[in-house]
Amino acid sequence: MTRPDCLDLPPLIGAAGSVQLPGSKSISNRVLLLAALADGATELTGLLDSDDTRVMLDALRALGVRVDGSPGDPAAPVLVHGCGARLPQGSADLFLGNAGTAVRPLTAALALLGGDYHVRGVPRMHERPIGDLVDALRAIGCAIDYRGQPGYPPLAIGRGKPRVDAPLRVRGDVSSQFLTALLLSLPLLGSQRDIEVEVDGLLISRPYVALTLAMLERFGVRVDNHDWQRFVLRAGARLRSPGQLRVEGDASSASYFLAAGVLGSLHGRGGPLRVHGIDASSLQGDVEFARVLERLGASLRWGDGWVEACGLQPGRQRLAGGDIDCLAIPDAAMTLAVTALFADAPTRLGGIASWRVKETDRIHAMLTELRRLGARVDAGDDWLRVWPMRDEDWRAASIHTYDDHRMAMCFSLASFGPVDLRIEDPGCVAKTFPGYFDAFASIARPVPVLAIDGPTASGKGTLAARVAAELGLRVLDSGSLYRATALRALRMGVALDDEPGLAELAARLPVGWRDGRVLLDGDDVTEALRSEQVGNAASTIAALPRLRDALLGLQRAQRRAPGLVADGRDMGSVVFPDAALKVFLTASAETRAERRYKQLISQGISTTITDVLRDLRARDARDASRSVAAMAAARDALPLDNAGLDVDATVALVLQWWRERT
Ligand code: C5P
Repeated sequence: MTRPDCLDLPPLIGAAGSVQLPGSKSISNRVLLLAALADGATELTGLLDSDDTRVMLDALRALGVRVDGSPGDPAAPVLVHGCGARLPQGSADLFLGNAGTAVRPLTAALALLGGDYHVRGVPRMHERPIGDLVDALRAIGCAIDYRGQPGYPPLAIGRGKPRVDAPLRVRGDVSSQFLTALLLSLPLLGSQRDIEVEVDGLLISRPYVALTLAMLERFGVRVDNHDWQRFVLRAGARLRSPGQLRVEGDASSASYFLAAGVLGSLHGRGGPLRVHGIDASSLQGDVEFARVLERLGASLRWGDGWVEACGLQPGRQRLAGGDIDCLAIPDAAMTLAVTALFADAPTRLGGIASWRVKETDRIHAMLTELRRLGARVDAGDDWLRVWPMRDEDWRAASIHTYDDHRMAMCFSLASFGPVDLRIEDPGCVAKTFPGYFDAFASIARPVPVLAIDGPTASGKGTLAARVAAELGLRVLDSGSLYRATALRALRMGVALDDEPGLAELAARLPVGWRDGRVLLDGDDVTEALRSEQVGNAASTIAALPRLRDALLGLQRAQRRAPGLVADGRDMGSVVFPDAALKVFLTASAETRAERRYKQLISQGISTTITDVLRDLRARDARDASRSVAAMAAARDALPLDNAGLDVDATVALVLQWWRERT
């Protein structure tokens, strides 16, 4: 299956509904390994089905561990037949992708058991440090060699003679996974003495170590934690299957939805958005993210097996900024970096040095992509500061995701800003949450658009203005942009067939709107735009693809809260294909000519009905026959022939359709 290049996200006005979280990646990979090494079989439910768990499962099978079932079905358990600390396969070549939660613990387990194993991954994995873990394992007699650059995978693991006579030492300030890897594997030694592990440096990501201890306990192994600096594995430790185990929902993944349920209230529609799969008793450290959100002003409700975001606390307009220590929540901290764009003061995220050695250098990636949106950001070795954005600061952007699932997921929240957003390589979320963008779409409430298309003089403009006024929405008369481009071209002497020149002109069109008037370069051109000469010129240049492209961004930028009624020729088919309601307005050429004739006469413009009809037919033909965005009803547009309807009846009908759809 090929991965799509990009995904376009419309600006959002709110988020509501409910989401079932996928299983926790951290718990899934820990319990898969523990179950594989334990005595007895373990029935696991709620396992995450993703790239990272798949590499772990494939590796366990390659090592001869029997696993029945697959994690695809949340209800059907996976049965892991533990090997009782004796792997059936003494040799294997293991490809572990970019899964740190597989590479580190498997390296430790295989090194302690001994054999002839190769451990390797994608190129980025070969840049992620493992030297501190290898040093700790070598110090107790394990045989491990680097096959590439010293300090990094790939690794060759041989048959050493591990013995623990003295406390083991391991560094804790680069990645907590080194300590986790040791703690998960040391029971394999079956030591009759206590084993002590001492941590060098300040231990980071402590909640992940707490999770390791909790999982070990489920498999019958007690580890005493002495102030996060010394850990003691009791004598005679041995992994024993708990029989059955349910994996919690992924707390890091919850962060995006909880934040979405809060950010929606910037436009008055926050939540309720219920996230199933975690609650106040969850073991994962990233549950703390929800507490941080509450401290910043979010209103959350907690239940049995769920958390619900209900917007901002009463009296709050925005989330608070400030200094946030993220040492314990490195993954969910990325979500905070994006929500900080919507805060009321700068936010400084501290304690995030580990971001540098994750799937990508996340500090660099975050800085680059936030700036791409127009944000003010700065960063240091272990911190990042983000300033809130004003509406006018935002730039439509295509976000690069660095093959990092969390970059893709947290940037989806930027769609609460007033611009179009493109996420590149959205498929990278498969690492931990393959269905992320479907789940996001199911709770996202895009800024609603009512698209009204139809031929000239069909009454689109009147209908759009009336409906927008009734609904309190903004209005876009897209024809005025083509007309304004035409007027400027006529004034500046740009030929009507000079496609590059016209596209350039359209891309920098100094157009604005005030009190229903159209301004061009500050001048009120409302009347000038309505002339037949400008109308005909507009219809001529509207056939030029590059000009149409140049006007696309300007049109989409009008999609702002609380919503937009847009009229034109291609609103439903090209500009806003996801419009909540699309209406295609028609009337016979004769009916429209008669209306236009009356309009012109009332404006004191002398003409004949024959001339008007001829011009109108010519324009219909041009609009319908051009090679791009030819005027045609979108497949899902509702046709509306208003020949026999007056304006009030037409408006009433469209309002009724709108209410049915939204
Ligand atoms: O709707 P109006 O008559 O103001 O539009 C002027 C011209 O601009 C139309 O004849 C049409 O060729 C072009 N147009 C377009 N696509 C739109 C709106 C207008 O091609 N969405």
